[in-house]
Amino acid sequence: MAPNNIAVYPGSFDPITNGHVDLVKRTLRIFDKVVVAIATNPDKDVSLFSVKERLQMIREVFKGLNGRVEADSFEGLLVDYAEKTGAKVIIRGLRAVSDFEYEFQMAMMNRRLKPNLETLFMMTGESEFYISSRLVKEVASFGGNVSGLVPTNVLRKLKEKFKR
Ligand code: PNS
Repeated sequence: MAPNNIAVYPGSFDPITNGHVDLVKRTLRIFDKVVVAIATNPDKDVSLFSVKERLQMIREVFKGLNGRVEADSFEGLLVDYAEKTGAKVIIRGLRAVSDFEYEFQMAMMNRRLKPNLETLFMMTGESEFYISSRLVKEVASFGGNVSGLVPTNVLRKLKEKFKR
């Protein structure tokens, strides 16, 4: 395989869910390395978890994978970041039809900005297709049970955040 067989998997990951984890693991069947990249925007930050907390959670989740998954954060355009990492491919997950329009627009815009960068869509696993960070946070904030939807370290952090 080419030495630069790297994929960038961008997102908010606030927090990382089992849907994301499944997608990263399946992406590793195709790529040597996946960079899970948290996009940050200090002017519009409404995140529950700080970037530091999100990075730490992602690193804990993938620590047994021989460095094949890296966690990082970036500010600015995804295409510029992807180019800097040496990745040729951006990975995005598709859950339902409702994801399609937003994802299609982003993929087209990114292609216009950097035609050499491809966006590759992975379908989420059938047991994860309804999971989103937004819903997980909402359910957890009202004391609902989200175990099985997020990794155990994330579950712990959610419980800490929403301690009543
Ligand atoms: O998980 P999300 O929040 O749906 O991910 C969206 C993300 C981070 C992929 C998108 O907002 C992004 O790429 N942000 C970086 C800034 C950028 O490049 N914007 C133009 C996208 S066409």
